Amino acid sequence: METPTVHEPQWWRGAAIYQVYVRSFADAGGDGVGDLAGVRARLPYLADLGVDALWFTPWYSSPLADGGYDVADYREIDPMFGTLAEAEKLISEALDLGIRTIVDIVPNHVSSAHVWFQQALEAGSGSPERARFWFRPGRGEHGELAPNNWRSQFGGPAWTRSTDPDGTPGEWYLHRFAPEQPDLNWAHPEVRQEHEDVLRFWFDRGAAGVRIDSAAELVKDPALPDYDYDSAHPDGEPHPYNDRDELHDIYRSWRVVADSYPQPRALIGEIWLPDPERFARYLRPDELHTAFNFGFLACPWDAEALRESISTTLAVHAPVGAPATWVLANHDITRTVTRYGRESTGFDFAAKAHGIPTDLALGTRRARAAALLTLALPGSVYLYQGEELALPEVEDIPADRIEDPMYHRTGGTDPGRDGCRVPLPWNGSAPPYGFSPAGATAEPWLPQPLDWSALTAAAQDGDSDSMLTLYRRALRIRRNEPALGDGPMEWMESAPLVLAFRRGPHFACVVNLSDAPAPLPEHSDVLLACGPTPGGLLPPDAAVWLRTPLVEHGAQVAPPRAG
Ligand code: NOJ
Repeated sequence: METPTVHEPQWWRGAAIYQVYVRSFADAGGDGVGDLAGVRARLPYLADLGVDALWFTPWYSSPLADGGYDVADYREIDPMFGTLAEAEKLISEALDLGIRTIVDIVPNHVSSAHVWFQQALEAGSGSPERARFWFRPGRGEHGELAPNNWRSQFGGPAWTRSTDPDGTPGEWYLHRFAPEQPDLNWAHPEVRQEHEDVLRFWFDRGAAGVRIDSAAELVKDPALPDYDYDSAHPDGEPHPYNDRDELHDIYRSWRVVADSYPQPRALIGEIWLPDPERFARYLRPDELHTAFNFGFLACPWDAEALRESISTTLAVHAPVGAPATWVLANHDITRTVTRYGRESTGFDFAAKAHGIPTDLALGTRRARAAALLTLALPGSVYLYQGEELALPEVEDIPADRIEDPMYHRTGGTDPGRDGCRVPLPWNGSAPPYGFSPAGATAEPWLPQPLDWSALTAAAQDGDSDSMLTLYRRALRIRRNEPALGDGPMEWMESAPLVLAFRRGPHFACVVNLSDAPAPLPEHSDVLLACGPTPGGLLPPDAAVWLRTPLVEHGAQVAPPRAG
C-alpha cells in the first residue's frame, strides 16, 4: 500500500518536494500568466506524479521586479495569481491528496513598494522608519558616492541613492539584489517580530513549512566595511554580509515558532556556502530542519566528484542529526538536460552563459540517470517543475521579452534565469501547449519554443520511455520502499567510475558514469532502469534500481535521527 508522508510528523526527512514556479505552471485565467486556479486544476497531475509536498515560489503581492522575490505584502496573494482564499483552498485540497505545502519567505529584503520602505522614504534621514533598512549618507563631498563598495548579486553596486521628500538627492540604501529589493536591518526588533508573525500567518493557514530565501545573508556588519572581493579571506574571518554568527539566534527563534504547532512545521534554508561545516551549523537540532544541498547541484557529471559530494554531505549532516537534501535544478539554475549535455557539466553562477554547445540527447540520458541517483539517496529530494518533462534551458528568448534583473543589471553579460522559467507545456503541438486555456488572448509571459510538442505532459503520458514515466515510476517505488527516503546508505564495491550503493538490506542503486557498459551486482530483480540493460550490463550514463539478496551486515552511513 502507498504511504504518503502526510501522517509522518518528520515528513521533511524523506519527502519528495516539487517546486512550483506559479507564474509558469498553468494559466487558468488566460492572461498568459500561471495562477493558483491553474495549480488547483493540476493537483491530480501532481498527486499522480507522486510528490509529497509542493514548494511555491513567492505568490504574494509584488511588483515582480525579481519574479516575486520582491514582496510588497506577505499577507496578500498577488491578484495576478489569485486570492488569499484560493491559496487556503489550494493548501487544503493538496493536503486532501496527501500533499503538503511549503511557502517561500524572503527575509533579507522586501519590495520597494512595501509599506515600510515607502514610509522610510517619506520619513527622511534619521527617522525610526528608516532604521528598519540600511540608509546611510553617501561618501564624497556631496554624498555622491555609495557608502561602501558592496556589490549587488545581480550586478552593479549594492546601493542606490534615494530622493528626499523635497526632491533633492538624499541618503543611499542597501540592496544586495535589485534596487527594488531594499535589505532589511535584522538588528531591528520589529523586523524580527514581523517575520515571526508572517511565519505564524502561513502556518496557521496550513503551510507545513517554509523555504527561507537567501537564508545566510540577513545579518550585516553594522560598520558596513568595504569588502575585498579580490583576495582570499582566512577561514573564520567574519564576512560583512554572509554567514554571520548572529543569524543562528534568529533561526533559533524561528524554530520555537515552528515547533509550537502540534504537527511541527519545517524550516528549509536556501544556503549557498562553500564550507560544508559552516553549512551544517544551520541544521543544528534547534535551528533549521533542512537546507538545499547546492554543493551536490553544482557538481559536474563525474563519478568521483559526485561520490565525494555525497559522502561529504552525509558526513557533515550526521553530527547535527539533520537529513540531507538532493537537488539538481531550480528557478535560478540552467536546466539539467542542457547542463549535462555540455562539455563542462557543473554549475557556476559566475560562468553562466547561453549558446554553449550542448548535446540534449546526452544531457537527457544523464538527467534520467541523475534522477534515479538523487531519488535513491538518503534524505529529501527537490524536483523543479519541468524537470519531470526533461525540459531544456530556453536560450533564445528575445532580449525585449527577458524580465530577469540579472540579465538587465549585467547589461546582458549574464543571460539571466528566464531560460529555466518558461511556461510548462501541457498538451498540443504549438504554443501555448495547454499552458493557457483555449481561446486565451494573451501569449505566455515568456515565449515557449516551437519544438516542444514531444515534451508536453500529454505526449509523455503513457509513453514507457518518457522522462515523465520514469519520474512517476521512481516516485512510486520510492514511496513504497521503506529503505528509501530517510535512513542509512552504504557504498558498494563497483567498477571504476560507477557509483553503487545499498539502501537497507535488499535495495541497490547503480549509476554508470564511465564510458563502458558496467556489470551489475548480484540481484533478483530490476526494479527500475533508465533504459535497456543489454546483456545484463548497465550502459554509460544510465542508472538502475535493483532488488538485491538480503544483506545482514555492513556499515551503513547514516545521520542519526534527531528528535
Ligand atoms: C534566491 C532566489 O532563489 C532568487 O530567485 C532570488 O532572485 C534571490 N534569492 C533574491 O531574493
